[in-house]
Amino acid sequence: MGSKLSIMDVDISGLKVLVRVDYNVPLQEGTDIISDDTRIKASIPTLKRLLEKDCSVILCSHLGRPKGEKIPELSLKPVAKRLGQILNHEIQFAEDCVSQETTRIVSNLDKGEILLLENLRFHKEEEDNNKAFASQLAQLAEVFVNDAFGAAHRAHASTSGITKFLPSYAGLLLEKEINYLESTLENPKLPFTAVLGGAKVSDKVKVVDRLTRLANNICIGGGMAATFLVAENKNVGNSAIETDFVGNAQILLDQSASAGAKLVLPTDVVVVKTFERTSEFSTKSVENLADDDIIVDIGPNTASQYASIIGDSQTVLWNGPMGVYEWENSRDGTHMVAKALANGDMLSIIGGGSTVDAVNFFGFEAKMTHVSTGGGASLEMLEGRELPGVASLYETTEG
Ligand code: 3PG
Repeated sequence: MGSKLSIMDVDISGLKVLVRVDYNVPLQEGTDIISDDTRIKASIPTLKRLLEKDCSVILCSHLGRPKGEKIPELSLKPVAKRLGQILNHEIQFAEDCVSQETTRIVSNLDKGEILLLENLRFHKEEEDNNKAFASQLAQLAEVFVNDAFGAAHRAHASTSGITKFLPSYAGLLLEKEINYLESTLENPKLPFTAVLGGAKVSDKVKVVDRLTRLANNICIGGGMAATFLVAENKNVGNSAIETDFVGNAQILLDQSASAGAKLVLPTDVVVVKTFERTSEFSTKSVENLADDDIIVDIGPNTASQYASIIGDSQTVLWNGPMGVYEWENSRDGTHMVAKALANGDMLSIIGGGSTVDAVNFFGFEAKMTHVSTGGGASLEMLEGRELPGVASLYETTEG
């Protein structure tokens, strides 16, 4: 494998640079109001660097899943406006990512100017990783920079195919994400603890499998804990379990014991009888669940135990809420884990998706070492998989 080059390693002064960003931001339903601009803010360091180097910057991204249709609600226009406010810089906008008019705008783009192209996925060729489309995009610039970590698990024209046509480099966000989610976790300061939750074991089997070889402790919470408890012959009542994955959970429990990673399961849980915010909530030992109990959070003893393991760690990776944190009566587990991370001085890595929403919900984002901008991408990276958007950067710089 060749080495991936960052924009810090090459002289790109004064060049026309096409930057793939992940501006797939949530919009308030039925409006063009951006409800979370984290991904826009996360692209700023790369943009500032390119402006410092007097580049002309052409930004491209997807938004939603229009599947080759031009859907006005999925236009990137509101993102151009928001980016302009954040960067305090004029952002030009091209109504199509590839057209004669776009080529004309690009040819007039001066050094220090920024242009955002319309949603790449309005063209079916983007997701098809179509060569001709990738080449058309490439013709807009002299250099390609991938800073779209959130889309790096997709082998699309703008994340993968394009690197065949332009010298291609990693942006500062992409580099930072790889640094924390790959390099740091492969060489963590010990003790290293992983806290894993979320609804499904099936989503996390490969991550747990890999972590049994890297972590000292793996604390399990969330809906997926129920399947692990069944693997330990506990009655989890009416909790949703993935029957097909009880065997996997058993294997992971055995594997962690032999690998020296301590896989820790809840000893107490918060339960309801009907899965509703207005239900009656009670706390029970996992030894005493009734057949109609549904687990909605880890219990207070478990939460204290996890907080203490976190406090004793030098590196902590957290992926997946401990319970239904959106409900007042089942959020303490997730809150205690978040608080232990926020108050500790360990390196804390928040692995994307709903965990980030939970950290934001409790207002602890700024206290974490790294909060990933990737959902699916961070999970695949944690599984140890090669992401096409990253692998293609290695390929392009080979030889
Ligand atoms: C994400 O939000 O996870 C990325 O932007 C990728 O979006 P996608 O799942 O539609 O490819």
